[in-house]
Amino acid sequence: MARPKIALIGAGQIGGTLAHLAAVKELGDVVLFDISDGIPQGKALDIAESGPAAKFDGSFKGTNDYADIAGADVCIVTAGVPRKPGMSRDDLLGINLKVMKSVGEGIAAHAPNAFVICITNPLDAMVWALREFSGLPHNMVCGMAGVLDSARFRHFLAEEFDVSMRDVTAFVLGGHGDTMVPLTRYSTVAGIPLPDLVEMGWTTQDKLDAIVQRTRDGGAEIVGLLKTGSAFYAPATSGIEMAEAYLKDQKRLLPCAAHVDGAYGLDGFYVGVPTIIGANGIERVVEIKMNKDEQAMFDKSVDAVKGLVEACKGIDDSLN
Ligand code: APR
Repeated sequence: MARPKIALIGAGQIGGTLAHLAAVKELGDVVLFDISDGIPQGKALDIAESGPAAKFDGSFKGTNDYADIAGADVCIVTAGVPRKPGMSRDDLLGINLKVMKSVGEGIAAHAPNAFVICITNPLDAMVWALREFSGLPHNMVCGMAGVLDSARFRHFLAEEFDVSMRDVTAFVLGGHGDTMVPLTRYSTVAGIPLPDLVEMGWTTQDKLDAIVQRTRDGGAEIVGLLKTGSAFYAPATSGIEMAEAYLKDQKRLLPCAAHVDGAYGLDGFYVGVPTIIGANGIERVVEIKMNKDEQAMFDKSVDAVKGLVEACKGIDDSLN
């Protein structure tokens, strides 16, 4: 059986890391697409040349021609600009919206059957726009944010409790921005919910609140340190986890920006929710019970995303 084909639209920091991870995990043949001439070709060749030492097989192609993504099983989109210190994800909206238009048209023309994972920020608005521009089925277009935000939360919790990250599960919902909703009640160490761990004296409520805030600011913390761009190792690893769930029909329950129609009182809206990812893309949106405070945070987050979607409509008439 032929290897799956993975198209990476955008061959920058995240795109290159995605390609390397896909190679090392032998997920399939990789096509790196970018408008910049030489970058995708150079990264593809460099990764291919690491194969003999790393012991993986696969073909790696860099290109500036959308025709080369033809028949891709998965497209992961990182095309656009990242933020610099002092910028919010929302500041990227105008530039990246135009990028989503060309990417959406490219995918629609050459890889209409792909499972599409958007990583470009501001995430929730960009994945919505990408779906609109591409016209692909809603279950086949999603955004990567919750896996990354949850991973950051899990890392901070594992450090605080001095336990393996493997035993920490965490839930982060809502938009990928300052209003994201880390759900402590649904986050656990091997099944023990965080509020119980506070009662058990493993941490204090103040420390937990500080970790929640650090999770919300997780992207900005990296931008502040790097100064020249934004995070790429953890975002790429999170995107690959979602791609693998689709390619291997793993039926993983992963939080991601999905089209929510009916659940959570939403009618046809992209926002971060728990989903099942398998061979049919986003196979299910899982509706969990939220208490009053959690619901209020989620509603605030949804409103923030709605504002961004309206801003997109204001910029591009075809989205109305
Ligand atoms: N089509 C294809 N590629 C494009 C286009 C386009 N229209 N416009 C820009 N690009 C490419 C750039 O040439 C660059 O190689 O997208 C790549 C982006 O790479 P980086 O600048 O290194 O950004 P990266 O860190 O990978 O982040 C990409 O993901 O997390 C988000 O906020 C982040 O929006 C940003 C995106």
